[in-house]
Amino acid sequence: PAAALWGGRFAGGPADALAALSKSTHFDWRLAPYDIAGSKAHAKVLHRAGLLTDDDLTKMLAGLDELLADVLAGSFLPADDDEDVHTALERGLLERLGAELGGRLRAGRSRNDQVATLFKSFLRDHGRIIARLVLDQVTTIADQAEKHLGVAMPGRTHLQHAQPVLLSHHLMAHAWPLVRDLDRLAEWDARVAADSPYGSGALAGSSLGLDPQFVATELGFTNSSANSIDGTAARDFVAEFAFVTAQIGVDLSRQAEEVIIWATKEFGFVRLDDAFSTGSSIMPQKKNPDIAELARGKTGRLIGNLTGLLATLKAQPLAYNRDLQEDKEPVFDSVDTLEVLLPAFTGMIRTLVFNTERLEELAPQGFSLATDIAEWLVRQKVPFRVAHELAGACVQECEKRGIELWDLSDEDLAAISPYLTPEVRTVLSVEGSVASRNGRGGTAGDRVAEQLAELRTRAAEH
Ligand code: ARG
Repeated sequence: PAAALWGGRFAGGPADALAALSKSTHFDWRLAPYDIAGSKAHAKVLHRAGLLTDDDLTKMLAGLDELLADVLAGSFLPADDDEDVHTALERGLLERLGAELGGRLRAGRSRNDQVATLFKSFLRDHGRIIARLVLDQVTTIADQAEKHLGVAMPGRTHLQHAQPVLLSHHLMAHAWPLVRDLDRLAEWDARVAADSPYGSGALAGSSLGLDPQFVATELGFTNSSANSIDGTAARDFVAEFAFVTAQIGVDLSRQAEEVIIWATKEFGFVRLDDAFSTGSSIMPQKKNPDIAELARGKTGRLIGNLTGLLATLKAQPLAYNRDLQEDKEPVFDSVDTLEVLLPAFTGMIRTLVFNTERLEELAPQGFSLATDIAEWLVRQKVPFRVAHELAGACVQECEKRGIELWDLSDEDLAAISPYLTPEVRTVLSVEGSVASRNGRGGTAGDRVAEQLAELRTRAAEH
């Protein structure tokens, strides 16, 4: 059998059932390039500590490069009896360099500090890929907002008409959470960068005079772990990454839900592009928002990956336990899920066509200008409690007669209250209502234009 990394004290090889359970190459093989990068850095600290000659180091680095090339070309693969990615790569190195030199690399390191470090490297790379895809989505929303500046729509709370808002304002409300997700990814990365576990060994550190900070710098980290036990046992970096991916899913799914509703016959707010919607195998007329539904559905698995991970981590004693091998598959799945979902989702939003006439027409309906009456009264120095009552009375009168607020005559208004002079009509329009909400963050046109610039500036920081 291929050499296990731990055969010495055992009388025979592992039972087949154990080997089958223990094996992780079918999922951890994707870490191979990161493991080789770690091995190269480790070879250099062994050399600096006088444990490899100049010649040894040259040969070792060349052997590792050759191994990497074969891994990338697919010509070196894990064998059936390789336990994990580390085992397989050591076998590959021994095959290339011989046991005498190849067998020197493992000094002063353990798979425990190895795997913790390279999982961080892997997630840092994919964090950057995901950030780029999220940024595309933010930019796409900003572009749609810019294209529709000035278009009003019904703003909702409880899914009921609430107050008119600008479509651009509503769209950008979906971009800001994603900007915060980008912040989270960047902050996560900085925290992880300062904590390279290499050099922690199995848990207690190394007796061989190896320099963990040198390895950290070689691998693109800013510092090494302050505590070797923590370095090998902590997986909060995985859970936090899984949280951010789940939050991105949740943010997309809220947008998805609106696209699904907006694309219904009843709403008719948007039309999906043919290239980003699907048909039915039986109903010839169907055009379905599958991307949005998959975003909603896949968010369930992103949340599941996070909760599963937290359950795995809960109550594990220090330091490394084999349970920790279970940290990889859920997060690999989260990475793969977002990397396939985000491009499709962004395409769907980019090609969404808005029925602006319908949005504008519905904006003032459902008595969505009632708050404007109340606030107009407040500006006439009427206490808000009273103003709220009077605006409510206007709504009641309209509902009774099946008319809209702006259909009330001067006499109707005066009959409700002498405070309701004909001037109140100035706020009984969507334009007036929208323009009046002109504080920072409000839906007034100028503010929304400012917000768009702010959003683009924040996006450009990433
Ligand atoms: N494959 C393991 C993991 O992913 C690393 C191996 C550590 N094994 C051990 N017996 N300490 O966590």
